[in-house]
Amino acid sequence: MIHYEELCIKTCEIARQAGAFIRQEAGGFSAQKVEVKGLHNFVSYVDKYSEKLIVEQLRLLLPESGFIAEEGTAGCRGERFNWVIDPLDGTTNFIHGLPPYAVSIGLTDNGRPVVGVVYEVTLNECFYAWQGGGAYLNGKQIRVSDRPAVKDALIATGFPYCDYHLMRPYIDCLEYFLRHSHGVRRLGSAAVDLACVACGRFEAFYEYGLHPWDVAGGALILLEAGGKVSDFAGGSNYISGKQIIAANDSLFNEFSEIIQQYLQP
Ligand code: IPD
Ligand code: CA
Ligand code: CA
Repeated sequence: MIHYEELCIKTCEIARQAGAFIRQEAGGFSAQKVEVKGLHNFVSYVDKYSEKLIVEQLRLLLPESGFIAEEGTAGCRGERFNWVIDPLDGTTNFIHGLPPYAVSIGLTDNGRPVVGVVYEVTLNECFYAWQGGGAYLNGKQIRVSDRPAVKDALIATGFPYCDYHLMRPYIDCLEYFLRHSHGVRRLGSAAVDLACVACGRFEAFYEYGLHPWDVAGGALILLEAGGKVSDFAGGSNYISGKQIIAANDSLFNEFSEIIQQYLQP
């Protein structure tokens, strides 16, 4: 019998261990240690070793599971369980010495997200949730905010940095939110953006060009905190579909209609 709560608590310990390693390396980190993976896409031994550490421990926790991990240290997928791992979300922030950055881990059971952990390293904040059990931040239950309108919302996004095919409509949509909300923030970690919607710091978040490991952990935390999530068309392909809309329950419809107007015409 698999207990999601127990798995979740153990996953938090693993995320915290990886986070401790990342924190330790942050002090002496220099630009010479950065490798370029693609356009504006960077990696270092810190991302790679963090992933190795996480994968080794998760394998012991659930030997039959497979892995979808950003740096590719763990190849094959499992039949029933898969861990979806971003060993360092916010690498660009990390290499510039700028908070936030996080470890993000999700677990799917037959494709359904059942455990989510986002550990933000610089503030020592561990966000976590398991299916049906609610969402938590360092032991305290969290909920999305109840602000009901975009005009009173603080909105998070990620700027396009290598996939520019929606750049023009993205900028138009951004302009709409700049004119009609409390403001827009770009933190630099999609996992932290989702966690911040889950605990009510932001009302909403949207971004395109994402990967499963950016969102798998945070999306479950948001859902368990009472939020809603979809792809730009309002469908459920937000883990692999490279685009996500996330918001508190009360303004989700208004927010997603605006996104659809600009980004899904
Ligand atoms: C990135 C961060 C960033 C988002 C990018 C992601 P990485 O992940 O989540 O906020 O805008 O789309 O790729 O590369 O730092 O793991
Ligand atoms: Ca990422
Ligand atoms: Ca990463």
